[in-house]
Amino acid sequence: LKQPTPAPAKPWWRARAQRLLDQHAGETPRYVYHLPTVRQRAEELRAIEAIDRRFYAIKANPHPRILAELERLGYGFECVSLGELQHVQQALPELAADRLLFTPSFAPVAEYQAALQLGAFVTIDNIELLQRWPEVFRAQRLLLRIDPGFGQGHHEKVRTGGREAKFGLTMEDLPGLLDAAQALGIQIIGLHAHIGSGITEAAHWREVYARLASIADSIGSVEFVDVGGGLGVAYEPGADPFDLEGYAAALAELKQNWPHYQLWVEPGRYLVAESGALLATVTQVVSKAGVRRVGIDAGMHTLLRPALYGAWHWVQNLSRLDEAVDGEVDVVGPICETGDVLARRRRLPAATVPGDCLLIAHAGAYGAVMASRYNLRELPIEDVLDD
Ligand code: LLP
Repeated sequence: LKQPTPAPAKPWWRARAQRLLDQHAGETPRYVYHLPTVRQRAEELRAIEAIDRRFYAIKANPHPRILAELERLGYGFECVSLGELQHVQQALPELAADRLLFTPSFAPVAEYQAALQLGAFVTIDNIELLQRWPEVFRAQRLLLRIDPGFGQGHHEKVRTGGREAKFGLTMEDLPGLLDAAQALGIQIIGLHAHIGSGITEAAHWREVYARLASIADSIGSVEFVDVGGGLGVAYEPGADPFDLEGYAAALAELKQNWPHYQLWVEPGRYLVAESGALLATVTQVVSKAGVRRVGIDAGMHTLLRPALYGAWHWVQNLSRLDEAVDGEVDVVGPICETGDVLARRRRLPAATVPGDCLLIAHAGAYGAVMASRYNLRELPIEDVLDD
């Protein structure tokens, strides 16, 4: 896919290009998060009546201003480490513990213990935890993470269901775990599944929920069913936007079929991806063996998604928004790896020169939080923009 193509539907940064250049492009690489966009997405999900509780998966972007905004809108917070739990508590000291959901994977048992002590909802997904540390879990009220046997998502590395994924309890292992739980006086009050990230088809949730609900019926003590996150975002021009109506309709139908369970969701990406723009400064422009490369001060250490998943992100020269574009270039970072390419074969203005500011769009989810100091480069700066 080449630029120019239809830009993402009315991106917030288009009308604010000059402000971004004046106020934010000074020191780069820099992520800028547009809070009204987060609010808009959060309100959309709030409008889906079938959903009883929404937990934001903070792994997508734990910026305190984003957490505060979502707290105000009634969201809880899904955390996968003690570090994330403590981060939320620090950012939101008034938050009630029942707005915390702990959904770890292969975490040290001390983290489960700490989460239980805090009063968070805690999810387990294997019997070994109960066998090895029965006293930690005795008489607790817990959620159970189920692997429905299949995964979905934008890349194999983010599919969290099925045999090759480390998450969740299989159907075969369920009876054994329920026996062990009963022997310890544990009450299974919730069922949970999250089988992948970047899912665009609403049918997926119907299938997962139907499976969870039928298991819940057989357990008896279940009060809520958590169908995870995974809502996709249209990164590429021309890609269909997430089918929010289909999602709402699927959840409404499920709620109608199983009105006795509370329906929980835990979206990450959907709430924050479009709110984030990554600003970077052009360092060098070099042609080699017929390939022209625009080098910038952001790379795989700033935004890992292209290198890790081959993810596609919109790239625009913010300093030359209205100039005609020329032949194709690769947009590369300063890291000493061949995979340090943020965008391949894109069309940028011919006059692009060192000092220009490039904008990489839809970078608000799994961007800054996955950055590293590889090659001992600095971590990106993060700013918030609120109209
Ligand atoms: N719940 C659980 C248990 C999860 O593991 C995740 C994401 C979510 C909710 C939120 O999923 P979302 O709504 O954001 O799809 N780094 C990858 C994505 C990894 C997702 C990990 N788990 C990426 O950049 O695409």
